[in-house]
Amino acid sequence: MPASELLEAARKARGHAYAPYSNFTVGAALLTKGGHIVTGANVENASYPVGMCAERAALFAAVAQGHRSFDAIAIVGPEGVALTPCGACRQALSEFGDLRVVREGRDDVALRDLLPDAFGPRHLARTGV
Ligand code: THU
Repeated sequence: MPASELLEAARKARGHAYAPYSNFTVGAALLTKGGHIVTGANVENASYPVGMCAERAALFAAVAQGHRSFDAIAIVGPEGVALTPCGACRQALSEFGDLRVVREGRDDVALRDLLPDAFGPRHLARTGV
Protein backbone atom coordinates (compact mmCIF):
# COMPACT_ATOMS: atom_id res chain seq x y z
CA MET A 1 0.00 0.00 0.00
CA PRO A 2 1.38 3.44 -0.91
CA ALA A 3 2.34 5.73 1.98
CA SER A 4 -0.01 8.38 0.58
CA GLU A 5 -3.02 6.11 1.12
CA LEU A 6 -2.10 5.40 4.74
CA LEU A 7 -1.46 9.11 5.34
CA GLU A 8 -4.89 9.87 3.91
CA ALA A 9 -6.49 7.45 6.41
CA ALA A 10 -4.58 9.16 9.25
CA ARG A 11 -5.66 12.58 7.98
CA LYS A 12 -9.29 11.47 8.01
CA ALA A 13 -8.95 10.03 11.53
CA ARG A 14 -7.47 13.33 12.70
CA GLY A 15 -10.88 14.83 12.04
CA HIS A 16 -12.19 12.79 14.98
CA ALA A 17 -9.53 13.96 17.45
CA TYR A 18 -10.77 15.45 20.70
CA ALA A 19 -8.13 17.99 21.70
CA PRO A 20 -9.88 21.01 23.27
CA TYR A 21 -6.98 21.68 25.67
CA SER A 22 -3.95 21.60 23.38
CA ASN A 23 -5.83 22.31 20.16
CA PHE A 24 -3.23 19.96 18.62
CA THR A 25 -5.16 17.31 16.72
CA VAL A 26 -3.46 14.14 15.54
CA GLY A 27 -4.58 11.15 13.49
CA ALA A 28 -2.86 7.82 13.06
CA ALA A 29 -3.43 4.87 10.74
CA LEU A 30 -1.93 1.45 11.38
CA LEU A 31 -1.53 -0.98 8.51
CA THR A 32 -1.71 -4.60 9.64
CA LYS A 33 0.26 -7.34 7.93
CA GLY A 34 -3.09 -8.67 6.74
CA GLY A 35 -3.77 -5.41 4.91
CA HIS A 36 -6.31 -3.90 7.33
CA ILE A 37 -6.14 -0.25 8.31
CA VAL A 38 -7.03 0.66 11.90
CA THR A 39 -7.15 4.33 12.79
CA GLY A 40 -6.92 6.38 15.96
CA ALA A 41 -7.00 10.00 17.06
CA ASN A 42 -5.82 11.77 20.19
CA VAL A 43 -8.42 12.03 22.93
CA GLU A 44 -7.73 14.56 25.69
CA ASN A 45 -9.32 14.87 29.09
CA ALA A 46 -10.02 17.62 31.62
CA SER A 47 -7.69 15.64 33.87
CA TYR A 48 -4.80 16.28 31.48
CA PRO A 49 -2.60 13.19 32.01
CA VAL A 50 -5.53 10.93 31.24
CA GLY A 51 -5.45 11.92 27.56
CA MET A 52 -4.24 9.51 24.90
CA CYS A 53 -2.11 9.96 21.77
CA ALA A 54 -3.44 9.03 18.36
CA GLU A 55 -0.78 6.34 17.84
CA ARG A 56 -1.63 4.43 20.98
CA ALA A 57 -5.34 4.89 20.36
CA ALA A 58 -4.85 3.20 16.97
CA LEU A 59 -2.61 0.49 18.41
CA PHE A 60 -4.96 -0.41 21.25
CA ALA A 61 -7.97 -0.45 18.94
CA ALA A 62 -6.11 -2.71 16.50
CA VAL A 63 -5.03 -5.16 19.21
CA ALA A 64 -8.56 -5.19 20.63
CA GLN A 65 -9.76 -6.12 17.15
CA GLY A 66 -7.38 -9.08 17.01
CA HIS A 67 -4.40 -7.61 15.14
CA ARG A 68 -0.88 -8.10 16.45
CA SER A 69 1.44 -7.72 13.49
CA PHE A 70 1.89 -4.47 11.71
CA ASP A 71 3.63 -3.19 8.59
CA ALA A 72 3.37 0.54 9.09
CA ILE A 73 1.85 3.44 10.97
CA ALA A 74 1.13 6.84 9.42
CA ILE A 75 0.76 9.96 11.54
CA VAL A 76 -0.74 13.31 10.64
CA GLY A 77 -0.72 16.39 12.86
CA PRO A 78 -1.54 20.04 12.31
CA GLU A 79 -0.54 21.55 8.97
CA GLY A 80 3.18 22.18 8.71
CA VAL A 81 4.13 20.10 11.75
CA ALA A 82 6.61 17.33 10.90
CA LEU A 83 5.23 15.04 13.56
CA THR A 84 6.99 11.99 14.93
CA PRO A 85 5.69 9.61 17.63
CA CYS A 86 6.37 10.46 21.26
CA GLY A 87 8.52 8.17 23.39
CA ALA A 88 5.59 6.48 25.09
CA CYS A 89 4.04 5.59 21.74
CA ARG A 90 7.37 4.31 20.42
CA GLN A 91 7.59 2.00 23.42
CA ALA A 92 3.97 0.85 23.06
CA LEU A 93 4.39 0.10 19.36
CA SER A 94 7.69 -1.72 19.89
CA GLU A 95 5.91 -4.36 21.97
CA PHE A 96 4.63 -5.79 18.67
CA GLY A 97 7.91 -5.64 16.75
CA ASP A 98 9.34 -3.33 14.16
CA LEU A 99 7.27 -1.36 11.65
CA ARG A 100 7.65 1.50 9.21
CA VAL A 101 6.73 4.94 10.54
CA VAL A 102 5.25 7.15 7.84
CA ARG A 103 5.38 10.84 8.66
CA GLU A 104 4.25 13.90 6.74
CA GLY A 105 7.02 16.09 5.39
CA ARG A 106 9.87 13.81 6.40
CA ASP A 107 11.30 10.47 5.41
CA ASP A 108 9.82 7.18 6.53
CA VAL A 109 11.79 5.57 9.30
CA ALA A 110 11.90 2.16 10.98
CA LEU A 111 10.54 2.15 14.53
CA ARG A 112 13.69 0.37 15.67
CA ASP A 113 15.70 3.39 14.52
CA LEU A 114 13.44 5.72 16.52
CA LEU A 115 13.74 3.54 19.64
CA PRO A 116 16.93 1.52 19.53
CA ASP A 117 17.58 -1.00 22.28
CA ALA A 118 13.95 -0.86 23.42
CA PHE A 119 12.85 -2.57 26.58
CA GLY A 120 10.75 -5.55 25.55
CA PRO A 121 9.16 -8.83 26.56
CA ARG A 122 12.52 -10.58 26.30
CA HIS A 123 13.85 -8.56 29.23
CA LEU A 124 11.08 -9.89 31.46
CA ALA A 125 12.22 -13.41 30.62
CA ARG A 126 15.53 -12.59 32.39
CA THR A 127 17.48 -14.45 29.76
CA GLY A 128 19.93 -11.66 28.99
CA VAL A 129 19.79 -9.31 25.99
N1 THU B 1 -0.04 13.76 20.43
C1 THU B 1 -0.36 12.68 19.67
O1 THU B 1 -1.51 12.25 19.63
N2 THU B 1 0.63 12.10 18.95
C2 THU B 1 1.92 12.56 18.86
O2 THU B 1 2.72 11.99 18.14
C3 THU B 1 2.33 13.71 19.67
C4 THU B 1 1.31 14.28 20.56
C5 THU B 1 -1.12 14.44 21.16
C6 THU B 1 -1.10 14.33 22.65
C7 THU B 1 -1.87 15.57 23.05
O3 THU B 1 -3.27 15.31 22.97
C8 THU B 1 -1.53 16.57 21.96
O4 THU B 1 -1.05 15.81 20.86
C9 THU B 1 -0.50 17.61 22.36
O5 THU B 1 0.63 17.00 22.90
